[in-house]
Order: sequence, then structure tokens, then C-alpha cells
Amino acid sequence: MTSVGRSAWKYESMGVSMDAIGERIAALNARAADAIARGLYFYERPITAIDGPWVTVANRRMLMMASYSYLGLIGHPDINRAARDAIDCFGTGTHGVRLLAGTLTLHRELEDTIARFKQAEGAVVYSSGYVTNLSVISTLVGHGDAVICDKINHASIVDGCLLSRANFIRFKHNDMADLERALIKAGSVAKLVVVDAVFSMDGDIINLPEVSQLCRQYGAWLMVDEAHSLGVLGKTGHGIEEHFGLPPDTIDIKMGTLSKTIPSVGGYVAGKQDLITYLKNVSRAYIFSAALPPASVAAAKAAFDVIERETWRVEKLHAMEALFLNGLKSLGFDTLRSETTIVPLITGDDDRAFLMTRGCHQADVFALPVLSPAVPVGLSRLRVTVTAAHEPEHVARALEVFERAGREAGVI
Ligand SMILES: Cc1ncc(COP(=O)(O)O)c(C=O)c1O
Repeated sequence: MTSVGRSAWKYESMGVSMDAIGERIAALNARAADAIARGLYFYERPITAIDGPWVTVANRRMLMMASYSYLGLIGHPDINRAARDAIDCFGTGTHGVRLLAGTLTLHRELEDTIARFKQAEGAVVYSSGYVTNLSVISTLVGHGDAVICDKINHASIVDGCLLSRANFIRFKHNDMADLERALIKAGSVAKLVVVDAVFSMDGDIINLPEVSQLCRQYGAWLMVDEAHSLGVLGKTGHGIEEHFGLPPDTIDIKMGTLSKTIPSVGGYVAGKQDLITYLKNVSRAYIFSAALPPASVAAAKAAFDVIERETWRVEKLHAMEALFLNGLKSLGFDTLRSETTIVPLITGDDDRAFLMTRGCHQADVFALPVLSPAVPVGLSRLRVTVTAAHEPEHVARALEVFERAGREAGVI
């Protein structure tokens, strides 16, 4: 027996397959193939056209009820024009990473715009929201420090915490007594608390007044991910501090994305200028990854300007949210604690989620199932959203279809 053969025998005799990677891939493929064969695979359906709240998929015009474009800004003429002008002026790429030759005037203008919008001294942009969380958390804390998270924070926050190698402590969802327990448990080391503003799968809002008070009491830094609250929370869409009427220095690290309400790509952090200078010179995603392309940067900047100018959009979003959420609740759906545009329609198991999705798609309403591991087992759901691009008649149509599909699938 060769030495390789001997070790294969050793591991297999211990019940450990030598091809565990291959087996994992095969298991996932079998699960997906089974869903496809039963006509229950709804992911990655290519959209061929977009028109307000409508999308065309496989030659069918469908009402989009699963969008992140909360203020309906995709395709806004001013934003499209800004992107085209940027390409005419700067081309489609940059000369490299931001710290070296990649910075354009456009990047500076976008960062200044974000800082103003978030009432912060400065801002830094990264190539995605995911990368922002990964890089910023792992830059600010490390071995010997503590990072404290809400249990249902977004995966990019979790991954940033794991990458940091800090002591990773999680507290029960939005439970302030448990957050205090975590802060005490962390002890007298450097502490960073990270929370979502609006939880991406449940649609509820973090108790920011108490989180920030506890952070001050226990000497922890506070980072808040505004991926789903920018343009959504607050009377004018400026986010979670505006929603709670808190001063703009409540949050130390104001993180957000440029891929949801802002119809572009990228992530940002806004905060004190010394924090921003530190991140620009130390965080690896800023130093070792190419600058955002000109069209994306210009589009993002133009989108912030549109939000400031077209104030009706936030007002309309809030009106549609109330109509949508109240309608779903009165139909008897379990919507957990949602209080925003993101609404989970809890189906419990995967099969009911698939069946209800099929009913929606057959009636040309675009909604998608979210299953474990994105949400806990037993809390499978359709994650549906409403936007400022919808009119009351669109909401009425969506409710009608959700009711029928929900009844047929045994959800309500
Ligand atoms: C709360 C939250 N943070 C971060 C991200 C990552 O942002 P991006 O898609 O821009 O990488 C997401 C994406 O869905 C999110 O929901």
C-alpha cells in the first residue's frame, strides 16, 4: 500500500470520506435537480426587461414583489444619464486600486455626498456591501478583542466577525438584556457591537436607542448596517437615526450598500474623519482591490441626489408599506415582526414555500422562497417587498395572488 493509499484507508475506516468535498457538491446538485424536475426551482430566472414595477421573464410580464430597489430608482433617467456621462468621460474601468492610481474625482464626489447624506465627517466606498462588512470588521477588531452581534445579522457581518478572529459573541435577536449580558461577558477588552438596522429576512428594526445607550455604558464601538434602511427609514429616507430622532453621532461606523435603494454596486462606511483615514490606509479591501468603475460611482452619486430632490418617493414607499403589510396581516399571514417594506410570509416548511411560489409565478407575480441556511429551519418563507414604484392597484393585485397561492399551498 502506498502512503497515500494507507492514509485513505485510515480516514475511510474512521468514517471520514476522502472525497467529502465531492459528496457535498453531489448532494447539493441532487437537491437542485430534484427541485428542477418537480418544477419547483425558481432561483436565477433571467429577467429580459424592466419597466417600473414590471419585469419580463421567459416572455411573461410579471409584477416584481421581490425587489431591493425600494425607492424604484432603477432606470431613473438622471441616474442613467450620470452613468453614461461617466463612461464618456472616464471609460469603463480605473487604473487600479483606490490608494494607488484608481481614485477619480467621481469617487471623492460620491464619498462627500454619502458623508453629507449621513451627516458624518467623511466616508469611504468599497466594491460591495459584502466586502465592506468583511473588511471593516476584520480591520477594526482582531485576536484578543470582542465582536458582539445580533443573532440574525446578515451573513456578511458574520463572515467579517469570523475573519477578524476576535471573540465572537452573539445575543438573542433584538434582546437588550441579552446584549447587556454579552457586553459584560466580553470583559474589559476592546469591543465592537454590530447590528443590522432593518433585518434583511425579517423586516424588523433594531432597538437603536437602547443598543447605543448600552454601547456607551460599556465602552463599545457601534457599527450599524443600513443595507435595508437607507432610503427606507426616516421621514426623508436618511436612515435609522432619523427614524428614531437620534443625533447623527449615535452610530460610530455607519455602514451601507449602494446596491439596493441606490441602484448601483458597492458599499460604504461613513463616520469620523480619523476613522475613514484609518480604514483607507489599513483595510485590505481598500488597499488590495480595484476601485469601483466610473459608471457605478456616478450612478450612486446621482441616486443620492434624486432621493434628496424627489422627496415624494419616501412618502410613497411608506404609504405602500402600510397598505401592503396591513393587507397581508388581515389575510392571516404570519409576517413575524416586520414593520418595513421587507415582509416574510412564513410557510414553515420548504414544500409549502415552493408550492406558494409556484402559485405566484403562475399568476405572473414574481416572489421568491427563502430557505435554510438563509433562515432557521422551520421558518421557510416567501420574502416579499413593496417599493415606491408600486401603485395601490399593484398592491391589491399582489395581495389577491398571495391569498390564492397561500390558500392553495396551505399557508393560510
Ligand atoms: C444587511 C446586508 N448587508 C450587506 C449586504 C451585502 O451587500 P451587497 O449586496 O452590496 O454586497 C446585504 C445584501 O443583501 C445585506 O442584506
